[in-house]
Amino acid sequence: MSLESKRLGPLGVEVLGLDLREPISDADWQALRELIVREGVAVFRDQPMEAGVQIELGRRFGELENTTLDTMPMDESKFLLANVDPQGRTRSDDDVLMQLVAINESWHTDSSFRDVPASFSLFSALTIPEEGGDTFFASLHLGWDALPIEEQAALYGLRGHHDYERAYALRDVDMRTVFGGSAPSATHPIVRRHPESGRTGLYVSEHVFAIEDMPEEEAMTLIRHLLDACADPKRVYRHRWAVGDVLIWDNRSTLHRAQGFDPDRPRVMRHVRVAGSEAAIAATPSDPGRP
Ligand SMILES: [Fe+2]
Repeated sequence: MSLESKRLGPLGVEVLGLDLREPISDADWQALRELIVREGVAVFRDQPMEAGVQIELGRRFGELENTTLDTMPMDESKFLLANVDPQGRTRSDDDVLMQLVAINESWHTDSSFRDVPASFSLFSALTIPEEGGDTFFASLHLGWDALPIEEQAALYGLRGHHDYERAYALRDVDMRTVFGGSAPSATHPIVRRHPESGRTGLYVSEHVFAIEDMPEEEAMTLIRHLLDACADPKRVYRHRWAVGDVLIWDNRSTLHRAQGFDPDRPRVMRHVRVAGSEAAIAATPSDPGRP
């Protein structure tokens, strides 16, 4: 079973002829999951959906993450990513929710501060500003493929520290006041084997500030170099949102970042995040590089 799709660039496909709001057969479902794993990002146009539909869609991928700061039961409001309050007024820049969202303007993969990071993210656009607020995607697989083989060889075995406290500190946000203690952080392999495709890729982001057993300056230079390999403009897909767009991406093979926008303009997205099923797996030289 294959789905009709159109390539959007170096990564990402637009899926045609599949309505996510209708029942999806197991065969189509499997084909969709394989497509997202292979291409990194799937775009669906003009499919405005209710919260319950998007949440159930996410559950078909796996258990959902609670992306909010509290541990209260998950209700539909928890999935909104909005710069407006319940009364419809735009929030100010120093609102803690806005400070938390600001970090998304750096290249990252969702939930890399967890020991078991997220697998898929499902975004839908409810209200968007006329300008700005685009999302950029880059492939951790294509970034790896772009490295000379001798550079690749030197990366096996390295482990990077994904440190949200440092990431927020760069934006003058003290996470200790937000979390009431240290922000979560995790250490993951720099070279990762995809748990479904087996393909080798990098696992870096702008939230990595240290590599185990490497001097800080050398580590930061290397991380920047690896990010540049992934986020080379010729390998980036830029998504300009329209209301009703639904995007599903694989956090185990892609980076993304948000473009800023006028904070006085409302932007409301719904974000369902699927928990990963295992810690990131360190790749070895015998794993396949390119598919
Ligand atoms: Fe994100």
